[in-house]
Amino acid sequence: MADSPIYLDHHATTPVDPRVVEAMAPFWTERFGNPASFQHRIGQEAAKRVEEATFHIARLLNADPLRIVFTSGATEANNLAIKGLLHPELRKANGNKAPHVITTAVEHRAVLDPLKKLERRGVEVTRLPVDHTGSIRITDLKDAICEETRLVSIIWANNEVGTIHPILEIAELCQQHHVPLHTDAVQAVGKFPLNLTETPVNLLSCSAHKFYGPPGIGCLYVQPDEARPFRLEPQIEGGGHQGGIRSGTLPLPLIVGFGKACELALAEQQEEVERLRTLRDQFQKQLQAGIPDLVINGAVENRLAGNLNISIPNVDGDVLLSRLTDVAVSSGSACSSSNPEPSHVLRAMGIDEQLCRSSLRFGLGRWTTAAELDQAAAHIIEVVRLLRDQPS
Ligand SMILES: Cc1ncc(COP(=O)(O)O)c(C=O)c1O
Repeated sequence: MADSPIYLDHHATTPVDPRVVEAMAPFWTERFGNPASFQHRIGQEAAKRVEEATFHIARLLNADPLRIVFTSGATEANNLAIKGLLHPELRKANGNKAPHVITTAVEHRAVLDPLKKLERRGVEVTRLPVDHTGSIRITDLKDAICEETRLVSIIWANNEVGTIHPILEIAELCQQHHVPLHTDAVQAVGKFPLNLTETPVNLLSCSAHKFYGPPGIGCLYVQPDEARPFRLEPQIEGGGHQGGIRSGTLPLPLIVGFGKACELALAEQQEEVERLRTLRDQFQKQLQAGIPDLVINGAVENRLAGNLNISIPNVDGDVLLSRLTDVAVSSGSACSSSNPEPSHVLRAMGIDEQLCRSSLRFGLGRWTTAAELDQAAAHIIEVVRLLRDQPS
């Protein structure tokens, strides 16, 4: 598109990599097939392709391929993990005592909303506070775990400020206390190396459209262990696909695309992280030089390479966004942008309301160039100066 804005919103979604499109192409038409149709060769071929894709997904996660359950995306995977684990029978088995869940104040709404619903039905929910970087304190988690705790759900990398939680430390603590751990790893998968063989996570959600795969496909990794046995109650029934955990015909082209996106991420992720970090740091410096009172939100070190979240004092965020016509950028979580409230993540980090309202989230991606960032920085600086020069 000739006149389209510079796309700096890769946390919301990413374009599908042309190599992924190419890999998917034959599976819409001549190589179509239902992987559950074992009776004929076309179905068997489809099942083989699903197996291959699952292998690439598992390799990226360094996990057992038999533990992957396909879903429509991460919203569904999060719902399946949370509602599936906290099923009513669990409560009965618990002598009717209310199960307890620990989460954080900075989760995506795809975790917060199902938990809110369960809370109305009697589940006790502890939402751990975060520090100014957007990270929980391990001691708070340790103190919150009690006899009734049945699940801990903690986001791996934050979708607004890019802060990366120490999931290995969190997982080991949960294992010591025999509490299953779920992590929403939507912004982590494909962005930096993960090793589930060494990280005792029991449930992990991810989504292909966040790392150059197709939208509409994701998965839940399900790995109970000796210290933490559990059963997931299916949330979608009919047909008994995927061991009955999630019924529904598997979308072959999407799964092939998901597998290809994982294969590419594994091969290129290290180089991509370094490139994005360099670009992001340079972009940050340019913005700071033009807007000296600009505030950087989030962690300095443990932050996603392609993420930059800033607040601009004394500028109305809505007006700013409406004037930034040359860049596609978000003023908070894209998935909750229908909500005019200031970001719950920034507020949890102790950022004052005016700065929350004037925040911008940049997400750099695979095809972001230095020239685009130069142009974006110049545009943002110019708009901020114009707004500040206007008499209020
Ligand atoms: C951290 C996080 N979790 C969950 C989701 C929802 O993912 P999906 O679009 O696959 O439903 C998103 C989407 O923005 C996200 O960033």
